[in-house]
Formats: sequence, structure tokens, C-alpha cells
Amino acid sequence: MRLSLVVSCLGPGLALLAAALWSIWPVILRLRRIPQVLVYPENKDKDALRIGILGASFIARAAVIHAADKRQDVLVTAVAARSESKAKSYAQQHRIPAFHGGATAYRELLAREDVDAVYVGLPTALHLEWTLAALNAGKHVLLEKPAVLSAEEAHQVVKTMRETQLLVFEAAHHRYHPAARRFKQLMTFGGDSEMASASFDVRFSMLDPPSLLNSIKDTLGLSVSLSSEDRRRERIKNLDRWWYCVDMLLWSTGAYEAEVVFAKEERFSISATLKLQLPNRSTTATLSMARDSWRDPFTWSISAGNRSSETSLRLQNFGFPFIWHRLDLIRNGQQTSEQLYGAGETTFEHQLGYFREAVRRGSLDKDASFLLTAQTIDLILEATGTGQFSITRDLT
Ligand SMILES: NC(=O)c1ccc[n+]([C@@H]2O[C@H](COP(=O)([O-])OP(=O)(O)OC[C@H]3O[C@@H](n4cnc5c(N)ncnc54)[C@H](OP(=O)(O)O)[C@@H]3O)[C@@H](O)[C@H]2O)c1
Repeated sequence: MRLSLVVSCLGPGLALLAAALWSIWPVILRLRRIPQVLVYPENKDKDALRIGILGASFIARAAVIHAADKRQDVLVTAVAARSESKAKSYAQQHRIPAFHGGATAYRELLAREDVDAVYVGLPTALHLEWTLAALNAGKHVLLEKPAVLSAEEAHQVVKTMRETQLLVFEAAHHRYHPAARRFKQLMTFGGDSEMASASFDVRFSMLDPPSLLNSIKDTLGLSVSLSSEDRRRERIKNLDRWWYCVDMLLWSTGAYEAEVVFAKEERFSISATLKLQLPNRSTTATLSMARDSWRDPFTWSISAGNRSSETSLRLQNFGFPFIWHRLDLIRNGQQTSEQLYGAGETTFEHQLGYFREAVRRGSLDKDASFLLTAQTIDLILEATGTGQFSITRDLT
């Protein structure tokens, strides 16, 4: 009896295993292709951009340290952390020559002469304070996304950028991958009249198990008691995910204005309809972000569709395209697909190259506006009735 049970489960089990391997195999191959050639500090360019890191964070490894390791023209010279021992072990682990630890560590790093630019990968509520401090200390800033919490904060950053003549480059890493740039190229109407009247759809659904559990409890009428600290964290997570939708939409379409037609924020999801002003027309866009959808556990896509000419364009997985992505164009019933992995560089590696180039040039790309993204998010939250995204700054 037991043997027959094992035999009858074996077939479906093996089929499931084969299906899982089949679907993750391209990802394994992709990750294996990410180039690992390191440029040692002694071989870097004489005028390499010298970066100091504020906060011994996890994200700094991907965004700066590993990316700089592979570049000739960027060098990490120092790191600062709130604790001496953490700063020291992080510096040793990543071969960073100088470190600062303790209550004054961040200020000490900003005062260093061998730092041209600072990477601010601190919690978003601390971005404004440390970005302004870095600019006033004469450093360019590579600022983690979302750059700011509100349009008001964005205005303060822009004002200080102008006063100091230094750059703040928002780490919108997805924009710098060849797949996103190809999508933008196809979208910004290189003479393609079919796409010129398209409307847009952006989705970001990433299942977050605690959010799903709370959502189920809510639906069953069971009380979910969240402390004010929990609520604050939930809103930061919502903003973090939502920012990708808004930023990708505005950047890839080249929109210069966005009017909110409809917006709704629930605890773990946001949806909105926008009217966009593009250089040669206006159009509509729908956006949705969910952290609690079991029906749609993972979607990260942007689409453009024109019903009258039956043309559509879709980029799947625009957030981490170096792992896997797919760009589909359907025209008159014919589908063509593209995958643009280049040499397998991560979005962060591409981003660091663009940052280096912006500093060399002394200017940002015209379309890199964190002000418009922040203004649009403010308008959406205002329309949902939840008001500006305001949280207390004290995170300790
Ligand atoms: N691009 C991406 O894929 C990506 C992924 C994740 C996060 N992010 C962004 O990166 C930023 C940081 O993310 P996170 O909040 O998840 O990072 P986190 O790891 O919680 O914090 C980052 C660093 O901030 C420093 N810090 C300073 N004051 C702090 C305080 N009061 N509380 C907590 N940490 C403090 C800590 O460094 P020390 O203790 O060493 O000083 C810590 O390592 C956010 O803007 C987030 O949106 C981007």
C-alpha cells in the first residue's frame, strides 16, 4: 500500500522538480554570466572617482562596493558606521582603506579630503539630512531610492544642489539597464506612430507573507493590531515599492507632468490612474502595487498598448532585469521578443557607470527628475485621502 503510494507520488513529484529546474535554469545561467573581473586599487585610474559610504549597509555592497570593484574609474576610499566595531569589520571585509565609527563618524567621513562623492544608503527618512550635509561639505551624492519622502524635501535638495553646484544622483538603478533603455527608446516615439497613442499599465506585485497574513485576518474580521511603529514601517514599504511604478512610468515615457484622476491606498496596496503630459500628446496610465495578492504573487512589468492598431509593448521584470527579463512587442498579431543582457552587468554596475559619467560631465540627464516623481507620489497620496507621506524622523 505504502509502496503504491510512493510510486503514484513519484511521477507528479518528478514532474514538479523538472518544471522547477526548467524555470530556474535560465536564472542560474544568467547569474553565472555576471562578470567577476576585479580591478585592484593599485590599478585604478589616477583620477578615479573616490566614494565614501555612509552606513555599513547591506545595499551598499551591491550598489557601490561590488560595482566599484569591477571599474577602473571608481574607488571606495572610506566607510562610516554608527559603531566602531561594525565600521572596522565592514572595512576589513571589503578592503576599504579607511573607516570611521561612533556618533560623529558620518561627519568625519564628510570632512575627508579623499572623498569626492558620498553614497547615502541610509533609511529613507534620513536621506534629506545627510544629503544636505554631504552637499554642504562639498561632495556629490549618489542617493538611494526613493531619494526623498515628499516634493517639499525634493525642493530643498534641488535648491542646495543649485547653491553648491554639486550633483545628487538618485539611485534609480532599473533605468540604467539596457532592457529599460530599449523600452524607453521604443516608447519615446522614434517615429513610431502606433506607439504615439498608446496608454500605459505598470504593475508591481511582490508577495510579502506577513502582509498577506494580516490581509487575510482583516478579511476574516479578525482584528489586526499594528503599533504606530508597525504602521510607519508598512507605509515606508508601500512607498518603496510604489516608487518603482511611478518612477519607471515617468522616466520611460518622458512625461513632464502627471495629473491624478483616481487613487486608492489600502494597507498593503496602492492603485492609481494618471493623465500624463508627454512631449507631443497626453495619455493615460494605470498603476498598481500590491504586497498581499496571492492571486498575483509576482509581477513587475510595464506595458504600453494601442488598441486601434493592435500594437503593444511589454517589459517584464524591469526592477532586476539582469537576473531575467523579457521585452515583447506585438504588432498586427506578430510577436517579437528581445532580451538584452549585455555582458551580464547588474543594474547597479550600469548605474555606477552613469553616475561616474554625470560627475565627469558635471550635469544630470534631463530625464532624471526625482522632483517630478516625488511631486506625483504626493499628489497620489493626497488623492487617496492619506495625505502627504509624513513620518517622524527619529528612527533610533
Ligand atoms: N536599490 C535597491 O534595490 C534597494 C534595496 C534595499 C534598500 N534600498 C534603499 O536603501 C535605503 C536603506 O535601506 P534600509 O532602510 O533597508 O536599510 P537599513 O539596512 O535598515 O539601513 C541602512 C544603514 O543605515 C544606517 N543607519 C543610520 N541611522 C540609522 C537608524 N536610525 N536606523 C537604522 N539604520 C540607520 C545603518 O548603518 P550603520 O549602523 O552602519 O551606521 C544601516 O546599515 C533605503 O532608502 C531603501 O529604499 C534600495
